Amino acid sequence: MKEKIESILEEIKTFQADSKDQAEEFRLHLLSKKGKISLLFEEFRTVPVELKKEMGQRLNELRDKAQARLDEFKQRFEEQEDSSSGQSDLTLPGDDSLPGTRHPLNIIKKQITEIFSKIGFSVADGPEIEDDWHNFSALNFAPNHPARDMQDTFFITPDIALRTHTSSVQVRLMESQAPPLRAIMPGRVYRNEAISARAHCFFHQVEGLYVDKGVSFADLKQCMLYFAREMFGEKTEIRLRPSYFPFTEPSAEMDISCNFCEGKGCNICKHSGWVEILGCGMVDPQVLENCKIDSRIYSGFAFGMGIERITMLRYQVKDLRLFSENDMRFLSQFRSAL
Ligand code: PHE
Repeated sequence: MKEKIESILEEIKTFQADSKDQAEEFRLHLLSKKGKISLLFEEFRTVPVELKKEMGQRLNELRDKAQARLDEFKQRFEEQEDSSSGQSDLTLPGDDSLPGTRHPLNIIKKQITEIFSKIGFSVADGPEIEDDWHNFSALNFAPNHPARDMQDTFFITPDIALRTHTSSVQVRLMESQAPPLRAIMPGRVYRNEAISARAHCFFHQVEGLYVDKGVSFADLKQCMLYFAREMFGEKTEIRLRPSYFPFTEPSAEMDISCNFCEGKGCNICKHSGWVEILGCGMVDPQVLENCKIDSRIYSGFAFGMGIERITMLRYQVKDLRLFSENDMRFLSQFRSAL
């Protein structure tokens, strides 16, 4: 029996458990009911009386040592498990996780949408890949009309192109719904232009359309003044200059008083005191007719602005390319804006 105890003691010392399973093997091998140590305890009954005291003590020691070694293994694997699941100390402060930020163009798009929704404009959407009819023909761009050159177009086929403005959504809206219509159309548009600080081959617009009985140029003007003051501050003045678009008559370009120098003259307004922000006009009666709206009963106004331009003015961003480069140093500056 003595030898058996000695050899098991040796086993306990040399046994290496590298996993939880091996620790369990150790337990089964020595300490379970059929384990070697338990069997020795059974054998103990047959030990002569004079040796019982000594053997009893040795057996107890042996069992305690095996148990201690097993506890050591268990503790080691429990610790490993804890640290690998990152749960070791729940009282430690958590890692700082940075919430995402809205893109500056989205911040401004949201503001424009909110400003117009307060006066009853809903939001309309349409496809970025558009046919000639919706992007050009329905809007009075005749097949060989020079106005088609106003917007350099990415054609996919002779009849299909990337939309050059969201006026195409105005056509879709007028074709699918009866007046009164009052909606804005935010979206991405494409033009074949060289990329620079002031131009890009894609940008974003918000256009708007209001068609009802008796809509006049005065309504357009007041609506634009309301927008300019909500967006750029209540002291903002507007100025309408005659212009030309094939789908509006009369047409105008709208300037706002420069809110950087308050009219004194600066680089942003090129020392004129005014900055151009949008195009607008009364919907040409022919466009209404093209969309099956009776122009003897209904009239309307439309406007369109570039979101990049408004955003550059609001945040004094000087290079349009920053909006699409995904530079975190630029984007994270908008963290506090909503
Ligand atoms: N569609 C014009 C553009 O992209 C903007 C515009 C919209 C002008 C509606 C007048 C009326 O430049």
